[in-house]
Amino acid sequence: SRRYTITLLPGDGIGPEVISVAKNVLELAGSLEGLEFGFKEMLMGGAALDVTGVPLPEETLTIAKQSDAVLLGAIGGYKWDNNEKHMKPETGLLQLRQGLKVFANLRPASVLPQLVDASTLKKEVAEGVDLMVVRELTGGIYFGKPRGFGTNEDGQEIGFNTEVYATYEIDRIARIAFETARKRRGRLCSVDKANVLEASMLWRKRVMAVASEYPDVELTHMYVDNAAMQLVRNPKQFDTIVTNNIFGDILSDEASMITGSIGMLASASLGKEGPGLFEPIHGSAPDIAGQDKANPLATILSAAMLLKYGLGEAKAAQRIETAVLDTLNRGFRTGDIYSAGNKLVGCKEMGKEVLKSVELKISVP
Ligand code: NAD
Ligand code: IPM
Ligand code: MN
Repeated sequence: SRRYTITLLPGDGIGPEVISVAKNVLELAGSLEGLEFGFKEMLMGGAALDVTGVPLPEETLTIAKQSDAVLLGAIGGYKWDNNEKHMKPETGLLQLRQGLKVFANLRPASVLPQLVDASTLKKEVAEGVDLMVVRELTGGIYFGKPRGFGTNEDGQEIGFNTEVYATYEIDRIARIAFETARKRRGRLCSVDKANVLEASMLWRKRVMAVASEYPDVELTHMYVDNAAMQLVRNPKQFDTIVTNNIFGDILSDEASMITGSIGMLASASLGKEGPGLFEPIHGSAPDIAGQDKANPLATILSAAMLLKYGLGEAKAAQRIETAVLDTLNRGFRTGDIYSAGNKLVGCKEMGKEVLKSVELKISVP
């Protein structure tokens, strides 16, 4: 049997709730393919701040780097919102992404036939949507320097950040995006703000240059404001989208709602080498934390991405994906995706039903 070490970072809010469910699903689906997991649960985010005084303890990063893959719940919450920057849970997450060098963030958004009714868009608009946002994750305005607070000529307090991209950063994310599009429907839309921002002008130039290596992929460009509009006007026009860190953050939350709920969207963050980081795109949802209301499917599907992209265990990943569909087919819904006629369940019960589905579908591929 193959053995893997997985670092679990439950984090804050609903993080621990969705991670405990996803861990069980990962373990069961893996065991059916002869996989064995050694889990290491580590502190991260607000949970780490409270115990160690920093949002990403050195030990957490070290263990994460030594493992085969990292599964993260979510971080953040009211309690730490007014902390200084280096004491924010979010800073820990950015340090983790940078520390693991996971520059490519894949965020698939597809409207499952079972959940068409959960979308806020009209059925004919939402039906059949299947897109992938490839978000650059370790550069851009999130990390650019100079940044900080200061004073301007008028004595006014200012806060400033820098959107900056180097050629190598654009080229490597563009290649991931072209490869991704090639495995999908062969269409790539690069989203930028090249009509205004220099960083976007370089982005567009480099994406066009890299395109010459992928003559089989159809490349288009779109300004981000238009892309935000097109996503709700006609999301089916998109196959693969590649964009910078901040536009990818925003557009993927928007894309999630087309699918019914942010509680459905998984993600994989990958680098050139070393373990990948897998996390739902949603946050710690402080408004529903501790109430057993969270939808665990985004984290369960992130565990499937961990198997597929992180460990190359496509069969075990398939078991999870099939089980999620089966659970939805059997009518189970958390509040965020509930519509009349279905069975309303909490986070734990949803997890139990997915486990049942994994067991029921033992013979699947
Ligand atoms: P959020 O994604 O946590 O929540 C937005 C809304 O979606 C809330 O109403 C929430 O209840 C709902 N929601 C989110 N996930 C859900 C799920 N699985 N099931 C059901 N409903 C769900 O975004 P926010 O409120 O802007 O941020 C809350 C905190 O999370 C902040 O501290 C923020 O910085 C942090 N955050 C962390 C991550 C991460 O860890 N990767 C991502 C986004 C936000
Ligand atoms: C996400 C989150 C993070 C981001 C925050 C919490 C730092 O919104 O993973 O989408 O902006 O990348
Ligand atoms: Mn986000």
